[in-house]
Amino acid sequence: MSALPETLPTVCEDAVLLNDWFPVGYASDFEKGQITPVRLLDRDLIAWRDDGGAVHVWEDLCIHRGARLSKGCIRDNQVVCPYHGWRYNSRGECTLIPAAPRETPMRKAHAFTHHVKEQYGFIWVCLGTEPGEIAPFPEWDDPRFQKVHCGPYAYAANGFRAIENFVDATHFPFVHAGLNGVMENPDEIAPYDVEIGEEGVVSSEVRVFQPWGDARGIPVVGFYTYKCLRPFLAHFSKRILKADENGTPVDDDSEYFATLFTVQPLSATECIVRICSATDITPTPTPDAVRERADVVFNQDREIVETQRPERIPTQLRHELHHRTDLMGQKYRTWLRTLGIRYGTL
Ligand code: FES
Ligand SMILES: [Fe+2]
Repeated sequence: MSALPETLPTVCEDAVLLNDWFPVGYASDFEKGQITPVRLLDRDLIAWRDDGGAVHVWEDLCIHRGARLSKGCIRDNQVVCPYHGWRYNSRGECTLIPAAPRETPMRKAHAFTHHVKEQYGFIWVCLGTEPGEIAPFPEWDDPRFQKVHCGPYAYAANGFRAIENFVDATHFPFVHAGLNGVMENPDEIAPYDVEIGEEGVVSSEVRVFQPWGDARGIPVVGFYTYKCLRPFLAHFSKRILKADENGTPVDDDSEYFATLFTVQPLSATECIVRICSATDITPTPTPDAVRERADVVFNQDREIVETQRPERIPTQLRHELHHRTDLMGQKYRTWLRTLGIRYGTL
């Protein structure tokens, strides 16, 4: 991979984030023959799928005179710059300078390329030079789970605030009244544990009653295990017991509902949320029903997270107030501070 262009300011300088992976779209977003502009960590990029099916993500910048490649086009499986027509192949090498068609372009005539992977139905990008692995999503390879991609949800909000909201069960009765909780009768949250380790930040089970706990529209008791896998990537696995309307379980057999919650930080205060829902529940809801419910829930979340001030998440615990029931968010902020993250934090 080539380095970032020296001439453009690097807003995010956190190695932890630069070497991390971020979805910039669903795999189905990128069709052959098209250039798609994408934004990540304050950088303007392009994504395009070559004839062999591989997606490439480059800086939206031509090394010749700095024009935006996103205004160009694809010809013969190559990106054509809109300004002087230089052509770049799928390795990012310039293959043609139209004003000197018989000369071999200089070696330095090269796109600024980034690492790309297609995984879990998303296109992931790493802007750094030392990418690690994409975090595990065990339900993805488990055929018992039906997978449904939901979103995208554009949040005019900080991505860390979006993650913290995702791992917070105490907002359910208020933000998702009638779905994930009951406003008139909020659950009392029993003490739970949170560990910071190799996997990230991981909670023990958090128990809640949900009158409309998933796309089936039935009352359930849910036991959430939350994980902040990466600074901008979270997961829950919800163990479910069917319940009556008063929240008493009526079934001894557990069912499962997991969600991978991905954040593409566009800037410190704007992000795109995309999720993959994985359910092992009976009856199996239709994918449309899963998406409709997710649209309601994540737009309810969006409306509240967009109001939070300061927009950048404070990682100093004294700057907001943390109750024992907020242990997951509190540990997440501590973890961000331990990782030395400056971008998008206060
Ligand atoms: S700026 Fe791209 S070809 Fe000149
Ligand atoms: Fe929520």
